[in-house]
Amino acid sequence: MAESILNGRRVLLIVGGGIAAYKCLELIRRLKERGASVRAILTEAAQQFVTPLSVSSLTGDKVYTDLFSLTDEAEMGHIELSRDADLLVVAPATADLMAKMANGLANDLASTALLATDKKVLIAPAMNVRMWTQPATQRNFETLMADGVGFVGPNEGDMACGEYGPGRMAEPAEILAAIESHFNELAYPGGGPLKGKRVLVTSGPTHEPIDPVRYLANRSSGKQGYAIAQAVARLGAETILVSGPTNLPNPPGVTVKRVETAREMLAACESALPADIAICAAAVADWRVASDAEQKLKKTPGEQAPALTLVENPDILATLSQMKEKRPSLVVGFAAETEKVVEHATSKRQRKGCDWIVANDVSPATGVMGGDLNTVHLITREGQEDWPLLPKQAVAERLARRIAEHFSNARAAE
Ligand code: C5P
Repeated sequence: MAESILNGRRVLLIVGGGIAAYKCLELIRRLKERGASVRAILTEAAQQFVTPLSVSSLTGDKVYTDLFSLTDEAEMGHIELSRDADLLVVAPATADLMAKMANGLANDLASTALLATDKKVLIAPAMNVRMWTQPATQRNFETLMADGVGFVGPNEGDMACGEYGPGRMAEPAEILAAIESHFNELAYPGGGPLKGKRVLVTSGPTHEPIDPVRYLANRSSGKQGYAIAQAVARLGAETILVSGPTNLPNPPGVTVKRVETAREMLAACESALPADIAICAAAVADWRVASDAEQKLKKTPGEQAPALTLVENPDILATLSQMKEKRPSLVVGFAAETEKVVEHATSKRQRKGCDWIVANDVSPATGVMGGDLNTVHLITREGQEDWPLLPKQAVAERLARRIAEHFSNARAAE
């Protein structure tokens, strides 16, 4: 877990009373997964939407609700709560909480903790569209921005009240990204160690058409590649993610080019060059149908099933690795193997001509394919590093740091 920028950070999460309060549970889980410690304050209204017991089970701490609780004040006073945090996050931030913050009111534990802090405050507003567009709320928004409060959202979309417009709380993943980028800016005030580097990442499966409605595909979710794109972008790299079809949102700060087939993926990669680093995490289909049908193939009773003739797809990793001009100076491939993982990956590195291979065991029992965890071995020209079982996010962060280290060692050797 030491790889996450959130590891060891203390977040004070203030939950306001809105229907979006349930999303704070997911946010707490994600923060904890990355090694952050979370203390939570629930306003009185928030307790109508999410129970202190659920929140406390996830934070692993008691939940703070009452300004005038003698026991709380004896154990952890409201000033102490603010002082003891590296960052305050308000999610959901209701119109009422925003109004209190903008005017310096302090008449409950949440508003008192917010007034008592000298730490960065990040808020995720959530309210009905007319409440959000009301001049009073917009005035408060301007005031809070001028006071240096950070905002994530609100997003535009369908609302629980049946209306449509701006006012939806940002998703937990977006709030998490905003929290990470806050700590990232603190850690790298002048830009990260990959600043000035251009990184190309491929991710996801490819879809190879059989006819206009059918295609060949694989089980890749794209999670690992997306996490890598986000991790290198956080370290300051200009990042281009060429993605096959996935259900994942675009990672913040990354330019995303979405493609369907292997040939489109190769073309998108070539047009993204020159790049300093290429990381090929996509599960590119090895074969495509020789000539995909223009019309939907029809099933005729009594006739034999059509035979599909397959031809080989271009190998994007090998193409990038073997380029004469424009070869990225570091090319990293992935090798998903189901047996003899390191042995197969080592020969794959040589065969394809890439510099590093990240090898992983994807046999069904591991649950890696489509799952959240991964055990990898990094194979370089110098040898092999075995990494422990890590969330894909942590694999991505470790790989990004390893790449940054590689370039800083290369600079030192010059
Ligand atoms: O040969 P294999 O598919 O096992 O190699 C995996 C590595 O090669 C991955 O990095 C994958 O992104 C890359 N690859 C590619 N184009 C292909 C096949 C694989 O870039 N057509």
